[in-house]
Amino acid sequence: MIHLTELPLLRGTVEAWRRAGERIVLVPTMGALHRGHLALVDHARTLGDRVIVSIFVNPTQFGPNEDFSRYPRDEKTDLANLQSHDVDAVWIPSVETMYPHGFQTTIDVGDLAKHLCGPFRPGHFSGVATVVTKLVNQVSPDIAIFGEKDFQQLQIIRRVMEDLDIPVAIEGFPTVREHDGLALSSRNRYLSETERAIAPKLYETLQEIAAGARSGEPIDELILSAKDKIKKYGFTDIQYISINNEFNLDKTDKIESHERVFAAAVIGNTRLIDNLFI
Ligand code: PAF
Repeated sequence: MIHLTELPLLRGTVEAWRRAGERIVLVPTMGALHRGHLALVDHARTLGDRVIVSIFVNPTQFGPNEDFSRYPRDEKTDLANLQSHDVDAVWIPSVETMYPHGFQTTIDVGDLAKHLCGPFRPGHFSGVATVVTKLVNQVSPDIAIFGEKDFQQLQIIRRVMEDLDIPVAIEGFPTVREHDGLALSSRNRYLSETERAIAPKLYETLQEIAAGARSGEPIDELILSAKDKIKKYGFTDIQYISINNEFNLDKTDKIESHERVFAAAVIGNTRLIDNLFI
């Protein structure tokens, strides 16, 4: 596995692969890798000849009161995991490489960023869109893979790549879960034992909403009773629970064929998100 930390070396490596006619797959990450990331890597392996994983904790997608400084970083374990999953190269740029002195261009995401997490994380999706565009331009992969746990992020990235004519295929990959249903997330390591026991209730509640919605129960009532339950379980804040169209992410109360139920809730100091196809 090649470790790349300088842009010219990254470009040289990728150019050599491309000259050899190889298909390149990028898995962008912020490190603190878990089984969900490794499932993306294994899927990447099936799609291309070369798999490259980027590790960059992107400061511009964290708000001033968010967890940038305490975001888990464990490069040694990450590298060992990637090595054992047959990754060809890791791209680990510094903050100065990604945002050199004088950097001032950002991507302003449209309506897709106004829904769900958007109002609770101002500037987040602009930071994500900008960094992913940079990573994709740096690596120029044929395919880039993202997990469906961050479904809004996935749809925004698809839109940005299409709108800016960036020639990459964006692949989504289903959320990987713990045995009790909790969606894997690097942030799960913030949870205390008591909080960890409560956390899977979020997915359980989304499943109940999805089942109710499928059988035609009124959406408003389903959501209200779900919010009530989530509070009783011990979540300290519910940012949203709502049903939205998968493509434009508009809120909806009609179940046709492209709806998902989405939620963001806080336990103690940890914000969890999840979503489920209806
Ligand atoms: O999902 C993530 O880990 C990040 O948002 C991403 C896509 C790597 C951009 O920093």
